[in-house]
Amino acid sequence: MTINKLGLIGGGNIGGVLFAEAAKRRLAKRIGFMDIKPPDLAKGKALDIAEGAPTISTDIHYDAGKEFNVLEGSEIVINTAGVPRTKRPDGTIPTREELLQTNIKITKSVAEGIQKYCPDATIISIANPLDAIVYTLYKILQPPKNKLMGMAGQLDSGRYRYFVAQEAGVSVENVEALVLGGHGDNMVPIRSCCRVGGMPVEKFVSKEALEAIETRTRKAGGEVVGLMGIGSAFVSPAWAALDMAEAIIYDKNKIIATCALLEGEYGVNGLFVGVPAILNKDGVAKVIEADLNSAEKEALAKSVAGVRNTCDEVEAMLKTM
Ligand code: APR
Repeated sequence: MTINKLGLIGGGNIGGVLFAEAAKRRLAKRIGFMDIKPPDLAKGKALDIAEGAPTISTDIHYDAGKEFNVLEGSEIVINTAGVPRTKRPDGTIPTREELLQTNIKITKSVAEGIQKYCPDATIISIANPLDAIVYTLYKILQPPKNKLMGMAGQLDSGRYRYFVAQEAGVSVENVEALVLGGHGDNMVPIRSCCRVGGMPVEKFVSKEALEAIETRTRKAGGEVVGLMGIGSAFVSPAWAALDMAEAIIYDKNKIIATCALLEGEYGVNGLFVGVPAILNKDGVAKVIEADLNSAEKEALAKSVAGVRNTCDEVEAMLKTM
């Protein structure tokens, strides 16, 4: 199974990994690759990867450039256009929410490009602040709710799984985990859903260690920003988004923590928030309501309140644009 065309908006760090991996995995017959950066970042990266394709025995067909027309006909679009978090000269690290002012303007032009060249595409957005940028795309494009989602929960759950696997001394393949809510420092690792080899995580990891792991998970993006010094995580977000894309392309009915539009689920209406969802050829086929304990419900409500605040800012900014 494959699709005819995969569109990638943004050819920076995440976009480059997306292009290389999508080509290697033969996810689409053709890839549309767009970035505004001169002289022609997208075309240059695409050429580099295409020249390596014979070595990995794959054929690559692509349209790359600075204009949105290279996306024409894309069935799935992954959006990474936007500035990432970067460590400031004084050593502090901005929050994802602090990127909104810049990234909302970029997102507006991204939405216009999608509208013009691939209005029916299923969209997976990665740019930050994640939940608010997905909300912005929704406000401008008004797509069917199954066709728009954000990638964050799969990355955050992956971070949680990695830390638990290290602590428990087992393979990451044995660890199942779920991190829900907004993609900010108040995201909610759901301990009651974490399993190691099918057994409750508490059997393998002490309560104290779990608390430390959950705190580290919430700040894991910042940890990478601090260590790299320039830019933010890019391989793990790309892989996480491709996991979502594969669930759609291969019609997998796979449950993935997805930033999806809620219409009453978890007591939330009209916001995009990280929740478990079934992904298949239709995109977000169904949101699943996990059974949360009262502390988890309270933490989720706090995280959702943060998302609501940022989306209120989006509403105000869109009025002035
Ligand atoms: N249209 C297309 N591309 C754009 C636009 C635009 N209007 N504005 C900026 N870009 C491009 C930049 O030229 C840059 O190449 O988006 C790219 C972003 O790449 P990086 O700066 O390398 O950032 P990356 O690490 O890929 O992260 C992208 O995802 O995880 C989030 O916080 C992260 O918001 C950031 C986004």
